[in-house]
Amino acid sequence: PEETYIMVKPDGVQRGLVGEIISRFEKKGFLLKGLKLFQCPKDLAEEHYKDLKERPFFPKLIEYITSGPVVCMAWEGAGVVASARKLIGATNPLQAEPGTIRGDLAVQTGRNVVHGSDSPENGKREIALWFKEGEICEWVPAQAPWLRE
Ligand code: GTP
Ligand code: MG
Repeated sequence: PEETYIMVKPDGVQRGLVGEIISRFEKKGFLLKGLKLFQCPKDLAEEHYKDLKERPFFPKLIEYITSGPVVCMAWEGAGVVASARKLIGATNPLQAEPGTIRGDLAVQTGRNVVHGSDSPENGKREIALWFKEGEICEWVPAQAPWLRE
């Protein structure tokens, strides 16, 4: 099944936006398979964002992501990766459409409240990186027949 790694970044946790952000994915109809509050160590942040290592903002990005607890989530569903990126909105919150999480709740790229995997491969990679075995639940919600034919 297709999976994506969604994370409420430290600013989202500090600003009390955890419930609001979880709610958007829950209401849409995706399946929550993993959820935890977590203080990210520096080496994990560096591994997660390794593709951005050469960018000038990389040290600040690592400092930001490790500055306080994050909320780690694994969500499942056909098309969930691209759909979650749409729900999240553009990287720069000033360019993000109203109605998206960043469009509604943030004003700067360096404090854009949430992360979402950019491909199904990275969804799998990131869930394996942030969750241990036993932290992911495979389950079928009672409302499943009312979400998909
Ligand atoms: P993620 O879902 O967090 O991966 O964001 P994204 O896929 O929309 O953007 P990208 O992967 O290109 O960048 C990862 C994160 O690095 C962004 O979400 C920002 O938090 C941060 N970032 C990207 N570009 C900049 C920048 O120019 N300045 C700063 N300060 N941070 C940046
Ligand atoms: Mg990204």
